[in-house]
Amino acid sequence: MTETIAKRRVLSGMRPTGRLHLGNYMGALYNWVRLQDEYDCFFFIADWHALTTDYAKPGDVWQKSHDVALDFLAAGLDPQRTVIFKQSDVPQHAELHLAFSMFTPLGWLERVPTYKDQQEQLREKDLATYGFLGYPLLQSADILLYKPAFVPVGQDQVAHIELTREVARRFNQLYSSAVTPEVAAAKSDKELMKAEISENVIESAIFPEPQALLTPSPKLPGLDGRKMSKSYGNTIGLTESPDEIRKKLKTMVTDPARVRRTDPGNPDVCPVGDLHKVFSSEETLAKVYDGCRSAGIGCIECKGWASDSIIRELAPIAERRHALEANPRLVDEILQDGSERAAKVAKSSMQEAKVALGLARR
Ligand code: TRP
Ligand code: SF4
Repeated sequence: MTETIAKRRVLSGMRPTGRLHLGNYMGALYNWVRLQDEYDCFFFIADWHALTTDYAKPGDVWQKSHDVALDFLAAGLDPQRTVIFKQSDVPQHAELHLAFSMFTPLGWLERVPTYKDQQEQLREKDLATYGFLGYPLLQSADILLYKPAFVPVGQDQVAHIELTREVARRFNQLYSSAVTPEVAAAKSDKELMKAEISENVIESAIFPEPQALLTPSPKLPGLDGRKMSKSYGNTIGLTESPDEIRKKLKTMVTDPARVRRTDPGNPDVCPVGDLHKVFSSEETLAKVYDGCRSAGIGCIECKGWASDSIIRELAPIAERRHALEANPRLVDEILQDGSERAAKVAKSSMQEAKVALGLARR
């Protein structure tokens, strides 16, 4: 007899920043593509989240979401195996967010570190809004709707997953009618309290607590040596042409100790060295270390090799992107299909939540 074991579920989202860069790729997508082999994957574009910071000037969020979807597919997310969709196409995200807002203490949201940090970093924007405070609560709804076991994210999102777990716990405590054998058999309040924290209750919880899956993300410097980020304007695009990549790398900062060609350098303190560590073969890396430390190679040559390595990694992605661009309706169809598959799960969770909240008949 063949037994099919249900794969555990993974879910994650990305804000629609437009065409993705190498940092987005190595920090998230690269890992997501590999997770598809082992998990039941849901990946979505968090377009509502774009409005939490850019409500005053949203621009073409639709276009940016579309570009991100193209890059998801170009990078190798496979719509056959994976559910790929846009947050705003599945209205249950907004609905569950509203439900959660009823019982989430303001203090929980005010204490999320990104709340104050982002307000300080984005001083030019007025982020004293209801939506911005609720950013991580919307994220909690995004996640819990699908009851995933894991949420692959970077370190910067861990506090949001922690909040998600607290929200799940609070919902379960407030609204799960814990009809486990222990609860049914309880003869006193004391016994009932004990029964309610038994393992069985947690298993029957409406929203299981998901875990963050901290995906390894190598240090990826931008052209100026700072972290690669769209807001610094120091990025290399995921689907830039080989010529553009070579041109950009030529301007990249190097070990400041190598002023002249004859000065030895150290790849460990050079941003180009960091790129080699991520994208180059052992062989090339050995040549870089030798040549740089002995001043046997020049930075121009070294940057040429780094370009080769990056271009090799990105070639299949560029190829898939071109194929998709030739068929513009395809992305719409994939997102449409994805939102239908996502909605099946989201509707069922939302119905359970409504019953638990007393809004719908059992
Ligand atoms: N806040 C996440 C980020 O900035 C994006 C996001 C929104 C997300 N909803 C999510 C990530 C749900 C994981 C799960 O990267
Ligand atoms: Fe950096 Fe390469 Fe120049 Fe060394 S040779 S400083 S690693 S660019």
